[in-house]
Amino acid sequence: MANNITFTMIKPDAVAAGHTGAILAQIAAAGFRISAMKMTQLSPAKAGEFYEVHKERPFYGELVDFMSSGPIVAAILEKTNAVEDFRKLIGATDPSKAEPGTIRALYAKNVGENAVHGSDSDENALIEGAFHFAGVEKF
Ligand code: RTP
Ligand code: MG
Repeated sequence: MANNITFTMIKPDAVAAGHTGAILAQIAAAGFRISAMKMTQLSPAKAGEFYEVHKERPFYGELVDFMSSGPIVAAILEKTNAVEDFRKLIGATDPSKAEPGTIRALYAKNVGENAVHGSDSDENALIEGAFHFAGVEKF
């Protein structure tokens, strides 16, 4: 499977705090090309569907409430080795464990409100991109 696509969301905490521009600049500086992008707000149902894999986890309700609490910026990103390189750029889920200089170390509030999403596999990157974007919205 091609390994040059990942999917990201700038989460409601980071959008509300005004970090969208700085995060997009950091993503571009790291060599990712934006092939689709939009500002939108997930309904609780859509947020629940997106994170369905975590349905049984204790934080699922909180995660769905948070992800539907305000606007997000969703984007498809292209780069060689996109999934792995983007996970390195964003850092660990818990910002207190994220490498200095990573997007989560710089902008995340805590393990739940952690500024950005990044796909965890090539397969999920394609599924998540298709969840948010129609073919005519990808460039
Ligand atoms: P993401 O999917 O958003 O890129 O985050 P991730 O892979 O680093 O972490 P994952 O395990 O997939 O968890 C998804 C999101 O759920 C929230 N979470 N809260 N309170 C908690 O202990 C907890 N653990 C995870 C975070 O928003 C996390 O990014
Ligand atoms: Mg994940």
